[in-house]
Amino acid sequence: MTTLTPDVFQKALDILNQGGLVAIPTETVYGLAADAENSQAVAGIYSAKRRPANHPLIVHLANSDALSYWASNVPEEAIQLTKAYWPGPLTIVLKRSKRAKDFITGGQDTVALRCPAHPIIRKLLEAFDEGKGRGLAAPSANSFGQISPTIAEHVREDLGEKPTGAVDLILDGGPCTVGIESTILDLSSSTPRILREGAITASMIEAVIGKTVQQGSSSNSPRVSGSLKSHYAPQHPLTLVSAENLAGKAQFIARHFQSFALIAPTEIEKRFHALAVKSFAYSLEKPEDLRMHLYGWMHELDKANIDHILVVPPPCQSEWFGVLDRLQRASVKK
Ligand code: TXA
Ligand code: MG
Repeated sequence: MTTLTPDVFQKALDILNQGGLVAIPTETVYGLAADAENSQAVAGIYSAKRRPANHPLIVHLANSDALSYWASNVPEEAIQLTKAYWPGPLTIVLKRSKRAKDFITGGQDTVALRCPAHPIIRKLLEAFDEGKGRGLAAPSANSFGQISPTIAEHVREDLGEKPTGAVDLILDGGPCTVGIESTILDLSSSTPRILREGAITASMIEAVIGKTVQQGSSSNSPRVSGSLKSHYAPQHPLTLVSAENLAGKAQFIARHFQSFALIAPTEIEKRFHALAVKSFAYSLEKPEDLRMHLYGWMHELDKANIDHILVVPPPCQSEWFGVLDRLQRASVKK
């Protein structure tokens, strides 16, 4: 695991140019990056992640100038949104150009594009672009079905660095500040549709494009692996419990001589703190705090000796949709 000195920067760039894999910090989660035009390099991503090969990847770009290299049609909404939110946690799905090959799109006629905000990936992308719009394919840097990494240590523990691990180089850019994966917005048809919830909400998109945004995938919308029901899977069963039912649930678990960890709003966490083996409090005033810490807590709980994870979820309001979506998936039984 390495921080970015000029030597390390050059090494990362060389690895990417030679078709290798570099784990990179982004503002959302850590990504596993490879040259998006090199089929061997992209095959390396799939085998490192043990991910089914028909799942499409997001191409990361240095700036919005690169859009026209990768998309055959760049609608006005895409231009408006990239002006407003790039670099940032918004991925846009557009009709692909010839440059986006089947090994990136999973054979679909669309491609997912994003310009990330973390200074390290930005610097790498700016050098990698070479004024030709070259991009980096980068899924989250975790094994398929595991929780996405939000610190470099998560990547080291899961995928590992060569010679013993799967990644050529893991760059350490500190904790991810957004903490959940980017919002994915499908702009490939006339109806804008959110395929994956994230920090950029439907109302933030509507405010820019002046059009209603649909939420949730329809039967003919493109495949999103994050939309598999149990995609974000913690090791221990995770249950969403309302504040009213928490006492009953905790008693039930105790009667079976089992233990639990708790994630709950501050006031509730205080009351149950002593009963839980481990507990984490979040503020109902600041959605960005829970968003930033959720995966880190889940990684920590994976290693804890507990039987259950109980979560008192935040209210069902749009600023919480991203974390609610991840909690919902994490609570689906495997
Ligand atoms: O925040 C993020 O987006 C992170 C960081 C590393 O940038 N990346 C990420 O990648 O979450 P990944 O591969 O874990 O998730 C990408 C999602 C997948 O669910 C994939 O199915 C979807 O994007 N996707 C990719 N191309 C698509 C397309 N053409 N149409 C619809 N969905 C697509
Ligand atoms: Mg992922």
